[in-house]
Amino acid sequence: MAEILVRGGQPLTGKVAVLGAKNAVLKQMVAALLAPGQSRLDNVPGILDVEIMSELLSYVGCSVDRHGHTLTIDVPGELRPEAPLELVRQMRASIVILGPLLARCGVARVALPGGDDLGARPIDMHLEGLEQMGIEFHLEHGVLTGSGHLRGADVDLPFPSVGATENVLLAAVRAEGVTSINNAAREPEIEDLVGFLRSMGASIEGEGTAILRIKGVESLNSTDYQVVPDRLEAGTYAAAAAITGGSIRVEDCVPGHLRMELKKMEEAGCSIERGDTWFAVTGPERPNRIDFATLPFPGFHTDMHPQMVAMLSVADGTSVVTENLYDSRFRYVGELARMGADIHIEGPHMVIRGVPALSGCPVLASDIRAGAALVLAGLRAEGETTVGGTGHIDRGYEDLVGRLRSLGADIDQR
Ligand code: UD1
Repeated sequence: MAEILVRGGQPLTGKVAVLGAKNAVLKQMVAALLAPGQSRLDNVPGILDVEIMSELLSYVGCSVDRHGHTLTIDVPGELRPEAPLELVRQMRASIVILGPLLARCGVARVALPGGDDLGARPIDMHLEGLEQMGIEFHLEHGVLTGSGHLRGADVDLPFPSVGATENVLLAAVRAEGVTSINNAAREPEIEDLVGFLRSMGASIEGEGTAILRIKGVESLNSTDYQVVPDRLEAGTYAAAAAITGGSIRVEDCVPGHLRMELKKMEEAGCSIERGDTWFAVTGPERPNRIDFATLPFPGFHTDMHPQMVAMLSVADGTSVVTENLYDSRFRYVGELARMGADIHIEGPHMVIRGVPALSGCPVLASDIRAGAALVLAGLRAEGETTVGGTGHIDRGYEDLVGRLRSLGADIDQR
């Protein structure tokens, strides 16, 4: 099992450029299935989740080729409308293949994903949305089969779920008639998926708002598209400056996609400069205490909460963080506690009493952002931290170790 070794204590300084967003590119890869022909994506990060999604696309009949940060997807005239358990289990996001397969084939057989490290994570809203559009589902031997003729509908989501919005959107672009997704997710990655689908010839209005209106079209064309920068990668480097008292300029990103997270870092004592495609964070010697709660965009992103909690574990005072999206996003807390953090969990709330210093020790990552948070804690801690479970980190970060080293971190992977 690979491990990351961090020897803490260096303030990180320098520049780092961000790649395309994991949570955008995975959805654009499945969206490419909507049109036979060759689609090309640029600014694709070299991460494990892209490889898993490439395997899934190959399984349904595509050829997928990567050159540097460019991914070429050749989509055949006929698809195999199935997603097997071994791939769906590795990456829950595979479930968004339902919409495109239903749109292309009128049928989809997808292994049910089950829960993961972040909790139960049901897909009821995905299925109800597609049922309202005329699809019938039945579950047998762990495989969910959907079939039917897609018709436009008024889909009311009880919660602005990112995945449910995407699955319904991906089906609606080829449905007969008009679909309205009410209480749609407003995340930048959804806006980027709309941009991608529009470049394929889809007719969509309202991205970035709570109502998406989609007029189904008879056919779509393959496309070339540049993936939006990863706000979570950008935010993780911002947190690296914040926790080490360093100064990092994060480039090739969209600062507006991290408004709430950067505002909270300012409250914690960071000084932040913003340009159109960059921002620069200078961390304080010791962060101030702050409170925040995770919410759908434009609220504080749940996928930035562990990195911020790592920083608050050494703050001057007691912070309260409320996690509203996932019930099991606290596994890394026990690992931070082994490093000396003082964190108490009460239902969805975490009470973090800042300690003056953390001390390095072996810890284990349980998911992508937990892994990032433990590496950040290691950068601040006295002595050596070894982070195990680095496969999780590789799912969402291209060369986190090399990039942190280029910013002055004393870090290795073995
Ligand atoms: C996506 C992101 C993930 C991020 C999350 C929230 C990808 C690959 N993943 O996940 O990194 O943390 O958005 O910003 O893009 N829910 C239901 N029923 C459903 C669907 C969701 O109860 O049918 C619940 C989930 O269990 C969770 C909450 O709603 O508690 C949010 O989920 P959702 O917005 O759908 O997140 P994902 O698309 O799974």
